[in-house]
Amino acid sequence: CNEDVILAIESTCDETAAAVVTRSGRVLGECIATQENLHEQFGGVVPEIAARAHLERILPVIDTSLRQANVNGRDLHAIAVADRPGLAGSLLVGVVAAKSLAMAWQKPLVAINHLHAHLYACQLSRMSSDDDAATDTAGRTAEPTETTETTSVYPAIGLIVSGGHTTLYLCRDAVDLEYLGGTIDDAAGEAFDKVAAMLSLGFPGGVAVAKWAEKGNAQAYAFPRSKQHDRTYDFSFSGLKTAVRYAIVGPGRQDFSSLQLTDEVKADVCASFEAAVVDVLVAKSRRAVAELGVRRLLVGGGVAANRRLRSQLTEASEQDGFDLVIAPPELCTDNAVMGAIAWKKIDRGEFATLDLDITPGLQR
Ligand code: KG4
Ligand code: ZN
Repeated sequence: CNEDVILAIESTCDETAAAVVTRSGRVLGECIATQENLHEQFGGVVPEIAARAHLERILPVIDTSLRQANVNGRDLHAIAVADRPGLAGSLLVGVVAAKSLAMAWQKPLVAINHLHAHLYACQLSRMSSDDDAATDTAGRTAEPTETTETTSVYPAIGLIVSGGHTTLYLCRDAVDLEYLGGTIDDAAGEAFDKVAAMLSLGFPGGVAVAKWAEKGNAQAYAFPRSKQHDRTYDFSFSGLKTAVRYAIVGPGRQDFSSLQLTDEVKADVCASFEAAVVDVLVAKSRRAVAELGVRRLLVGGGVAANRRLRSQLTEASEQDGFDLVIAPPELCTDNAVMGAIAWKKIDRGEFATLDLDITPGLQR
């Protein structure tokens, strides 16, 4: 390959991922080792288990992506790593790996904001995603796929909806983002996961809840749309979660394991819950677009794969006349390909030094 390539590393939560990406956004190698099976029995990500699993997998995952790209570490242009926000132990593994390799191979180091990367995924579209399902010992890997950067999408409002975050940004460009608001308690994906746990649908539960919701009646339960009409760009999903709990078991009870719910009730709860989440996300995003006078909405993060959200945002964009760019479904959940945002920082000369530390919390 004659083009410059970087190695991007992602370990912010429970996916260990690496990708080899060219300046034009072509993916030459990619590997993701998911930890879903390790956390399933706990109904959520257990930080220490996540950190230990990253430690075991990070080097094989990096090695697999480099081999797939047929790139020697010494030929890389730079090494990029997500240093924020995320679980401290998880972030540390990726950052230490990136720093060590940067030192060993004498390469520049680039620090990536994981949330900015989720939105940057909106700019990456896969040209061939049909044949990316090969698996190896390190976990799920994708055959090298063509990913191209579409034309510039800025300025825009950016909505990130993931397991850890629900955040609205004003995006002036890929790496210049202003925080507008975010969840004051649970993230949208976390609410999906908790409702899935109450209904014993497995973890992570977003996909399962969405599947059940397709068969249910979204009007069956009048769940709260917290903060939908307030003046802020903040969100709150913990009241909704409690309302779901009251609807299925009543106040007080914590043990859901012996619940006997009919399929109809499960489907109706999922549909009504999903509608409540989606209504608030759509209302706040379209208000941000209108009030900040931009013509575009970018949406990324795991929950952006949700079909009801995608279709209601599409409807809103048609009614209000703004452009909607949602990340391709396979780049919504955590991955290292979106680490291609590092090229934007390289172009600006924004490199990190070997004393790079992690920043677990979300800075505004
Ligand atoms: O972005 P992501 O992979 O991880 C974080 O950075 O947090 O998002 C994972 C979250 C999980 O909570 C999962 O349940 C949710 O995204 N999710 C979905 C769907 N697919 C994944 N939620 C609703 N509908 C979906 N189709
Ligand atoms: Zn994420």
